[in-house]
Amino acid sequence: MTMNKTVPLIFERSAPGRRGYRLPDLDVPAVPVGDLIPQDFLREEPPALPEVSELEVVRHYTQLSRRNHGVDVGFYPLGSCTMKYNPRVHEDVTSLPGLAAIHPYQPEETVQGALELMYNLGQYLAVISGLSATTLQPAAGAHGELTGLMVIKAYHAKRNENHRREMIIPDSAHGTNPASCAMVGYKVVEVPSDERGGVDVAALKALVGPNTAGLMLTNPNTLGLFDENICEIADIVHDAGGLLYYDGANANAIMGIARPGDMGFDVVHFNLHKTFSTPHGGGGPGAGPIVVSQELAPFLPGPVVEKQGDRYRFVTPEHSIGRVRSFYGNFLVYARAYAYIRSHGPEGLKQVSETAVLHANYMMQRLKDVYHLPYDRTCMHEFVLSGVWQKEHGVRTLDIAKRLSDYGFHAPTVYFPMVVEEAIMIEPTETEPKSTLDQFIDVMKRIAEEAQEDPELLTTAPHRTPVKRLDEARAARHPVLRWEKP
Ligand SMILES: Cc1ncc(COP(=O)(O)O)c(C=O)c1O
Repeated sequence: MTMNKTVPLIFERSAPGRRGYRLPDLDVPAVPVGDLIPQDFLREEPPALPEVSELEVVRHYTQLSRRNHGVDVGFYPLGSCTMKYNPRVHEDVTSLPGLAAIHPYQPEETVQGALELMYNLGQYLAVISGLSATTLQPAAGAHGELTGLMVIKAYHAKRNENHRREMIIPDSAHGTNPASCAMVGYKVVEVPSDERGGVDVAALKALVGPNTAGLMLTNPNTLGLFDENICEIADIVHDAGGLLYYDGANANAIMGIARPGDMGFDVVHFNLHKTFSTPHGGGGPGAGPIVVSQELAPFLPGPVVEKQGDRYRFVTPEHSIGRVRSFYGNFLVYARAYAYIRSHGPEGLKQVSETAVLHANYMMQRLKDVYHLPYDRTCMHEFVLSGVWQKEHGVRTLDIAKRLSDYGFHAPTVYFPMVVEEAIMIEPTETEPKSTLDQFIDVMKRIAEEAQEDPELLTTAPHRTPVKRLDEARAARHPVLRWEKP
């Protein structure tokens, strides 16, 4: 970051007595705090909070936000993450007092509209997935995976098949899949991909057996490829007594066109923050609802919303695995996804997926002469290139990703899926205009030229961002979340 030498950057802005809020007059009888909170829990000293005016708070956060890249700032083709634009109408909806000002402890009778919204959202997700019963509770896609696997485990246990502890996962799978398996105590059995990027069917046949609990699959998978053998794969797993889990992170490619339930899947999770355009963010607040077949419905976490006549009620399914989230999950995230589905309608959702797939294929065709394309076949909503040609000039995929920041773009997903060397996974989404796709293509081509002509420009990138290369793993493992005055 360039610092102005004459005017030092002021970070500490707190000054005693400054205020950025004004509390409304008390409209209930005043009660001494010590009467409400046990003495042991009371602070002895006031908390050391910053004392700042509203203007300073606004400036502080606005300045911080300007140092970040977000979908409101520029193109964000992060593969497998569906960083699409979040329509502003969602924010209008979620600020309606009937949605924003309710409390989860309110009696059901007073929140019928909210229950109706949850019920309808569950129904829509069931229709989109081709399955039967929904829980909205899980707080993210990975949490949906955990919940879905717990449901599968409970199903096998009910049938006295506790020995089924092996979950088959392709080598192209997202890291959360094996992690979720480990969390429920399943053994991960890896199935290789075939030369077209799908599940190797012969290898799968050899892997299934009496201990198979199921198969977890993303379809289209993390290579952006639709598995052409999905019906045969489903039969192989079902014939062995296993169930099929659909990781719906890539559902943006199939809405209104193909349904996991029709492909043979028994459980599906949706990442509402991807497909249904609710904000992403630091692991939450999010929602990763799961939808299951009729057979698995009794095992869902409770409570779920049921419609009885014209009333909506919370009920707990008969063999429920229990709650997986406090209260009813992230309700205002549901409201945004509901608004998204209602404002698009069935035809609109189909158009979303068609456009997402068209955009990805357009970009793939225009980039495949410049970057190696390991699987040269029609892709779905994303595609995976490889930086191996650029590596010959001493430039790694990470350098290409960093250089993209200099041009104002967020990098694609890199080094994933791991089956592709120097992977560059691009997901343009449907919300971008063609002019943005073209700009990005031009920049990617320019960077490929730079890799040949001036590799150091890339290996030392980025040059124009507030910070350069950060140790991301260390930042995640040892986050420093509080600034302290030196
Ligand atoms: C294929 C796949 N599965 C699962 C997940 C996990 O989803 P979440 O980030 O919502 O936990 C992701 C996230 O990027 C993903 O890409």
